[in-house]
Amino acid sequence: MSWSASIFDPASPQAEAIQRLALLVLAITGLIFLVVEGVFIYVIVRFRQRAATGTLEPPQVYGSKPIEIAWTAAPAIIVFILTLVTTRTLWEVKTPPPHPRSKANALFVTVIGHQWWWEYLYEDYNGRKLGFMTANELHVPAGEAGQARPVYMALKSADVCHSFWVPKLAGKTDLIPGRTNQIVFQTDRPDLYVGQCAEYCGSQHANMLLRVVVEPPAEFERWLTNEARPAVEDAGAREGKAAFLAQSCVNCHRVRGTPADGSYAPDLTHLMSRRTLAAGMVANTPENLVRWIDAPGAIKPACLMPAFGLSDRDRNLIVDYLKTLR
Ligand code: CUA
Repeated sequence: MSWSASIFDPASPQAEAIQRLALLVLAITGLIFLVVEGVFIYVIVRFRQRAATGTLEPPQVYGSKPIEIAWTAAPAIIVFILTLVTTRTLWEVKTPPPHPRSKANALFVTVIGHQWWWEYLYEDYNGRKLGFMTANELHVPAGEAGQARPVYMALKSADVCHSFWVPKLAGKTDLIPGRTNQIVFQTDRPDLYVGQCAEYCGSQHANMLLRVVVEPPAEFERWLTNEARPAVEDAGAREGKAAFLAQSCVNCHRVRGTPADGSYAPDLTHLMSRRTLAAGMVANTPENLVRWIDAPGAIKPACLMPAFGLSDRDRNLIVDYLKTLR
């Protein structure tokens, strides 16, 4: 994997279209910069005050139709060209309406932005209904053997405006309360892609990290099958499960297959299949789970999960239970 989140290193046709546009705009505006600065420097040097001769004024021009026409027409043409190329790129990265026939090999996910984590509702894959939730780490299939696997995402928000931005895969798109935005991307390159929330959404905006795991279809299918089933009962963690269910964790978190059915905070059904905690902030290790439960604010200041002041015994039992959620 690489930690690159550069628009100049695209891994999908959509991101490539955005890179082409960015380079073209950079070339045009760079040329304008060079011309303006070039003339500016020329004038400064050519007409500077000289000790020997005194001021040497350039010729003064009052009212010139050709010059007026030139400096009105040239910017108008440039703006027109920029408008055309931008519109063409918008068209290229636009989500086509998901037609039943196009559902083959396609993944449909609804992304819900929360302060300060990501919720993913897996709707449909390859024409198969899914309907399960997971959080923070998005898994998607890679195209293989010339077979594209497009990912259609519907973007929503549960609270304030957020923005989904994984630069190597797709353009930045906002998640706005009360409306649904769309993104589509497709890549043939399995990898871990990183990004982050790109719209200021409160004190932990900078720690609302995005991780997209692009896997070969067979591997993605395995992940999907595991993720879709409810939590497996682990006989060794009965006491831990009881401790978890006795605490107010269950008001916010869901573990499918148990009475815990909160929807305010991340779904924990397969917590151990995630490599990070707290929306990508720390590695998902038992030590970090303990730190997180004891004092979430120490890892993510002002985060909405409170510290419950659990006894060491209760907290250890809960961590033991969480470790069984594979
Ligand atoms: Cu969510 Cu910034």
